[in-house]
Amino acid sequence: MSQRVFSGIQPSGTLHLGNYLGAIKNWVNLQDKHESVFCIVDLHAITALQNPEELRKKTLEMAKIYLAAGIDPEKSTIFVQSHVPEHAELAWILNTITKISELERMTQFKDKSSENKQNINAGLFNYPVLMAADILLYDTNLVPVGEDQLQHVEIARTLARRFNSTFGETFVIPEPSIVKEGMRIMGLDDPMKKMSKSAPSEYNYIALTDSPEKIREKIKRAVTDSGRQIKYSDDQPAIKNLLNIYALLDNARPAEIASAYRGKGYAEFKKDLAEIVVGFLEPFQKRYNSIDDQDVLQTLEDGKEKAKKMAGEKMGAVREKMGLA
Ligand code: AMP
Ligand code: TRP
Repeated sequence: MSQRVFSGIQPSGTLHLGNYLGAIKNWVNLQDKHESVFCIVDLHAITALQNPEELRKKTLEMAKIYLAAGIDPEKSTIFVQSHVPEHAELAWILNTITKISELERMTQFKDKSSENKQNINAGLFNYPVLMAADILLYDTNLVPVGEDQLQHVEIARTLARRFNSTFGETFVIPEPSIVKEGMRIMGLDDPMKKMSKSAPSEYNYIALTDSPEKIREKIKRAVTDSGRQIKYSDDQPAIKNLLNIYALLDNARPAEIASAYRGKGYAEFKKDLAEIVVGFLEPFQKRYNSIDDQDVLQTLEDGKEKAKKMAGEKMGAVREKMGLA
């Protein structure tokens, strides 16, 4: 049976290969089988201070990234979170059944508030509640995300159950959807930390906008393990990570790639990997650059109408159950 899929990414910072392999690539596959809704979560982005013009620009860019990656507006709904006010409304309501102690346990909150002590705002603290609202408004069954978002999906499940048992059956209990090899793409300069756009060195990540020369340079400089062999094993985390990237982009299995390189050196493997990455990103960037701004705005407008209809129905039921209407 077809299930509903929902996911989103914040329109801030530079997207990297980890975001694509951990989340967006899975979205593209899921949209063929399931009714899918993909959101650009600008209300989440403002939990860090944003420049208004820049935010508007980034929101449009993120929509183009979705489209260039293969999200098809004929199959999926693509929209901007703030265009559908029900997200903020449901987030408020869910706040009233969320315990402060539950939010205090969130590792992303702990990380983000220690990174930026000047701006530990209430929105940052309540971020997972807004994410739960995003998911629950659309009767979502599956939430494709990277590993770092699992704790947030878990809170959405808890809140859905709590609401249902207090006010009556209203929300579907969502499940995370994870691709094992892509759920945690590690930094090229440090295979013990996840690839991240806030990493201090640009040699940590491959941005979706990196030029072919930059990609080749970054992969050449990627750290390798002390062992000499190319094998897929936890004792060689650097090569394991590079094999995951290779396999996901080549639609193969990491162990197969490893055996194809048995007896060969790291240099040859890295050279081939760089071409695999360039071979994916070059056409991706071509598609991205050929997308017309007006078309994207129209896609977001159509998406808004579809999302509003779904969210409006669900909010009607919520208000009714709570005595708010
Ligand atoms: P973020 O970059 O934190 O806004 O995350 C956007 C999406 O990409 C989320 O679904 C994350 O779980 C996923 N993601 C971020 N970094 C990685 C990574 N290094 N490996 C796999 N998935 C990631
Ligand atoms: N919190 C997610 C992130 O940082 C983005 C997000 C917001 C999201 N709402 C969501 C992801 C709903 C999946 C479903 O990556």
